Amino acid sequence: MNMSGKELLCCMAFLALLAFEQGSSCQIDSFARPSGTSFLVNGLPFYANGFNAYWLMDKAFDPYERDKVTSAMKEASSYGLTIVRTWAFSDGGGRALQISPGNYNEEMFKALDFVVSEASKYGLRLILCLVNNWSAYGGKYQYVQWARNAGQYVNSEDDFFSNDVVKSFYKNHIKKVLTRINTITGVAYKDDPTIFAWELMNEPRCQSDLSGRTLQAWISEMAAYVKSVDSSHMLDVGMEGFYGESTPERKQFNPGYEVGSDFISNHQVPDIDFATIHAYPEQWAPGLNEEGQQAFLEKWLESHIQDAGDILKKPLIVEEFGKSSRGSGFTVAKRDAFYSTIYDSIYASARVRGPGAGGLFWQLLAQGMDGNRDGYEIIFSECPASTVDIISQQSHRMAALNN
Ligand SMILES: *[C@@H]1O[C@H](CO)[C@@H](O)[C@H](O)[C@H]1NC(C)=O
Repeated sequence: MNMSGKELLCCMAFLALLAFEQGSSCQIDSFARPSGTSFLVNGLPFYANGFNAYWLMDKAFDPYERDKVTSAMKEASSYGLTIVRTWAFSDGGGRALQISPGNYNEEMFKALDFVVSEASKYGLRLILCLVNNWSAYGGKYQYVQWARNAGQYVNSEDDFFSNDVVKSFYKNHIKKVLTRINTITGVAYKDDPTIFAWELMNEPRCQSDLSGRTLQAWISEMAAYVKSVDSSHMLDVGMEGFYGESTPERKQFNPGYEVGSDFISNHQVPDIDFATIHAYPEQWAPGLNEEGQQAFLEKWLESHIQDAGDILKKPLIVEEFGKSSRGSGFTVAKRDAFYSTIYDSIYASARVRGPGAGGLFWQLLAQGMDGNRDGYEIIFSECPASTVDIISQQSHRMAALNN
């Protein structure tokens, strides 16, 4: 074959595109690990931008909806997003992964296999959360109910954290997921670098014990258990970031109440590899006006980034934040400003190799998912250009630090 330079270039571009389409160019082949206040991949720093998409397994389960998973991941990766947080649970109910304690729906597990294998194709690392605080998709409510059905004396959802039977149900779920062998890739989840981290619970709260001791003990026990099954992956708690008893002087940064968690002591557990916070000033402090909420947000970010660096000496991910279009006085400009405040503070820390390692907005949907809209959704194809730019610029400036 005899090609001119131009033809050759064109051919190479075509091959690169083909490789990308097949996903082979971005397949994830090495683990992310913590190193001081940063993450490392292949010995290089890993700063990221990402998103939440709790619904991936659920949509992958339905053959007619499965393409939503692929299209969301494809779009996300085209805007430089590299971390996705999703649910690796669905306890009881109509579309269960875990039908009843220890009894799993193999078809739903295959849907999760698909999510993991697609993520790798699109260069997305997964934070897989193992149970919900909320009763959506089962959660601690369902676990406590199962224990009650098994004859345990349990009064409240918070018994999730202390009842031995419930704890054994949950540990069984941990083991089941971590040792799952992916039917598509043939790789055990615990050996798959596509998984960025395991997460103990989405937004744990234990309001029946504001001393924080109950949650602290549960985190220590479950973190050690996760690591006994899988010592390769990182682990996080999944907490919102409220300060507790170990640092009374930091409680001034809470929105005015406590929830039984403790940002400092919960994250000091040695098996917990990085810290997380969420940021929902509108929901947490509805009594404050906009300036008040903005001031709260700035201090919330600043205090946690500072503590992650000085006290915890671990990376920090702002793993959920969003602004609802259903909130009063919503405008796109206000949401853009909200995203920018968060991205700027993460980047300011990352730039100087501080603990700010990434942010995950809540939540990305694909087109045609009207039933999942919650006001917080970002759908790239309908999203104002200003918002898409803010997200993609953050991806690119964070990625530029990875050398
Ligand atoms: C967690 O669960 C409790 C009920 O046990 C509930 O009161 C609380 O609102 C939930 N929320 C969050 C954010 O964790």
